[in-house]
Amino acid sequence: MTRQHNSRRDQRIDGFRSLSPAVWRASTVLFDNIADFTARKERLFDGYTYGVTGTPTTRVLEDRVAELEGAKHCVAVPSGQAALCLVALSLLSAGDHVLVADSAYGPLRTFARDYLERFGVQHDTFDPEAGGEIAGRFKPNTRLVFLESPGSITMEMQDIPAIVQAARAAGVRTVLDNSWASPLGFRAVPAGVDVVVEAVSKLFSGHSDLLLGTLATDDRGLYERFRTTQSVLGQAVSAEDCFLALRGMETLELRYRHQCAAALEVATALADHAQVREVLFPPRPGDRGHQRWSSAFTGGGCVLSFVPGLPSETAVHRFFDALEVFQIGASWGGVHSLAAFYPAAEQAKRSHCRVEGGVVRLSIGVEAAQSLVTDLDRALRAAAAN
Ligand SMILES: Cc1ncc(COP(=O)(O)O)c(C=O)c1O
Repeated sequence: MTRQHNSRRDQRIDGFRSLSPAVWRASTVLFDNIADFTARKERLFDGYTYGVTGTPTTRVLEDRVAELEGAKHCVAVPSGQAALCLVALSLLSAGDHVLVADSAYGPLRTFARDYLERFGVQHDTFDPEAGGEIAGRFKPNTRLVFLESPGSITMEMQDIPAIVQAARAAGVRTVLDNSWASPLGFRAVPAGVDVVVEAVSKLFSGHSDLLLGTLATDDRGLYERFRTTQSVLGQAVSAEDCFLALRGMETLELRYRHQCAAALEVATALADHAQVREVLFPPRPGDRGHQRWSSAFTGGGCVLSFVPGLPSETAVHRFFDALEVFQIGASWGGVHSLAAFYPAAEQAKRSHCRVEGGVVRLSIGVEAAQSLVTDLDRALRAAAAN
């Protein structure tokens, strides 16, 4: 929110200036003459040829995300999941092998298992607490490692610096889903990760009302492949959604600071609660992933999980129904606190999951932390008492 950042986004047209970016809509992009039109492919990466690769509003968002990531290039796509799939579809061919963290976002694991395999790309999942020993899982045809740290739902921390080093040495590219920490908590491109994915739907946009994703990289060759794949697969984004994401990003830092602090307060209170078996939140001292988190990250996240110490899944359902401030819903990163449940059977299906039992995942919003702690305490007691 510096003056420089604001002035970069000034929109000046005929004596009009605004602090907001203009919403440029277009499928058709016009050309000044036929020579320009004929040479339009030359503009694919650095200019505008057709609405599918974006308009000036998209570029403002991409520039803003690239600046936050400390990356040279960024491509905006329709969702976080679209961004993850786009990396795979841009860089993998039949006969290749890919590694996916066992705790990665579920639809990415499904994509690897049900789609990539169908197209001749082998995949394996790996221990989400892996470090440099991941090198032992590389095969001669391994091309990519998908990381997510902490992992969705069960919050395992990978040793990213060690994995990056091992992957570089083996010529394997690293892809990190950094949506939990965002670049405010971990600047992955400067840390050596090849491609960083953000689900802009979460913290960046911040209001649970749109879907967008981004890919950021320092590698011009990768950027050109992503932009080409976006065009070929028709992964267009709406200018209005880019505008809303940019508006959300004006308050990202303020929201992030509040939400991270509140999440830590909630995690600390839950850790002492009689009806809680385990809290999963690396920023909390004592968490299994705390040391890794504190040595590599500069900020936390607003998502935490816990394993309730309630006698049955019916009691867990009673807990959810007793919540008053938290609303029940998937996704996270918005201003409203949310709670979701992942039954024991889902953890049991994974090959490297040490968490046993059902997991409650909380997304902490901008409400006062104490009201969230009180809500959880009351609902846990009500569930246990029934
Ligand atoms: C960690 C993580 N990555 C990626 C995604 C996918 O983002 P989107 O909902 O924008 O597809 C999600 C969605 O829940 C997520 O939790």
